Amino acid sequence: MSKIQNIEAMQILDSRGLPTVEVILETDKTKSNAKVPSGASTGEREALELRDNDLDKFNGKGVLKAVENVQTAIKNAVSGMDVFDQKGVDNKLIGLDTSPQKNKGDIGSNATLGVSLAVARAAAQEKGVELFQHLNPENPNPCVLPVPLMNILNGGKHAKSSNIELQEFMIAPAGFDSYSEALRAGVEIYQKLKEILKGAAVGDEGGFAPALTTNEDALELIKKAVGETKYKFGEQIFIALDPAASEFYDKDIGKYRLKIKGKLQEVTSKELKEFYESLIEPYHIISIEDGFDQNDWAGWIDFTKANGKKIQIIGDDLFVTNVKYLKRGIEEGAANAILIKLNQIGTLSETIETMDMAKKAGMKCVISHRSGETADTTIADLAVAFETGQIKTGAPARSERTEKYNRLLHIEKILGEKAVYKGLNSFKYAAPQSGAQAHIK
Ligand code: PGA
Ligand code: ZN
Repeated sequence: MSKIQNIEAMQILDSRGLPTVEVILETDKTKSNAKVPSGASTGEREALELRDNDLDKFNGKGVLKAVENVQTAIKNAVSGMDVFDQKGVDNKLIGLDTSPQKNKGDIGSNATLGVSLAVARAAAQEKGVELFQHLNPENPNPCVLPVPLMNILNGGKHAKSSNIELQEFMIAPAGFDSYSEALRAGVEIYQKLKEILKGAAVGDEGGFAPALTTNEDALELIKKAVGETKYKFGEQIFIALDPAASEFYDKDIGKYRLKIKGKLQEVTSKELKEFYESLIEPYHIISIEDGFDQNDWAGWIDFTKANGKKIQIIGDDLFVTNVKYLKRGIEEGAANAILIKLNQIGTLSETIETMDMAKKAGMKCVISHRSGETADTTIADLAVAFETGQIKTGAPARSERTEKYNRLLHIEKILGEKAVYKGLNSFKYAAPQSGAQAHIK
């Protein structure tokens, strides 16, 4: 038992230079902290990140109300509680949510998450173990390092300069024997792409953002970059996409608006499905996240029915790390994987509950950063702790991204001989309605 003695919070800056929350928590023996990330292409059902909306300061983006909530309501509620009682603390935080939508709208998910993670860090420090050895009470000795899904070309809301709608073009270095080799391959491809582009702007997640004429250009560029390295496309290197389709879905006309074959087109869900299907083989696509709008359940279900045995289909905005939406997705067969973002739900315990539900349904969990990040590396430990086998944490550039990759290098070193990299096997899942993926045996 170790009691929470004091909690403080501060307004700091994230990687976009926007305010975010840092929490500092003290027990008798330790001092821990946690910094909260922030999304840009957020799902409409996410827990609410509290912003001040005071246009005089940071254009309304300040988080002083969330800071205040940590230092008053939250501090009052959890002071004296045991840092080893993560569930108890998280339940207290959840109990402070009096918003009608139950989305932490008045307390702020940025306030609750900061405290929840600082508690976990304090407990690990007091136990004298690494964070990844503490986070999953059912597995104190995890050893699986994740395949990094590295976002090397940015579009959509994260990179307006690229002029394409699909948000993330990631490489998945899955055909390697260790995390560090896979990371090295990813870095070399990233550098090759930089050479090909002769320098280009970068998007919010550190991937390049060159001006392109159509979405397929991005895939061609990556294919070319991989081709100019020694790595084998389709054996060692695969592509993962996050179109973030809610961002280019036009509700009024019920169609998606994006550039295909060099032309801006308005397409139905079915046509979009066919477009994705046409890309899978030529570009060795292994995973598609948010291929459809967050309310286009029918589109998701059709796509998963047709392709769920072939590729990984991840719900991000669709599920928002929330058991309520995940349950529906499982029942209806809407996806075979879920993106896990702590701040979409606001506490560690709720995040774990969501991962449990996914795992039981045979779905893969992919731990993810946000486009607005800090130097906090908790997600690297979370990926190892739950042996999810996959992590999404941006380009291998900009410290807020590389800090997570570097933390995984440290964990690999700590584990030594015990470290396991499952590579392609990390993409093996039992799709809710189907069984194991066909082409990954
Ligand atoms: P976000 O983007 O952090 O801006 O929401 C990441 C994603 O869509 O996966
Ligand atoms: Zn996404």
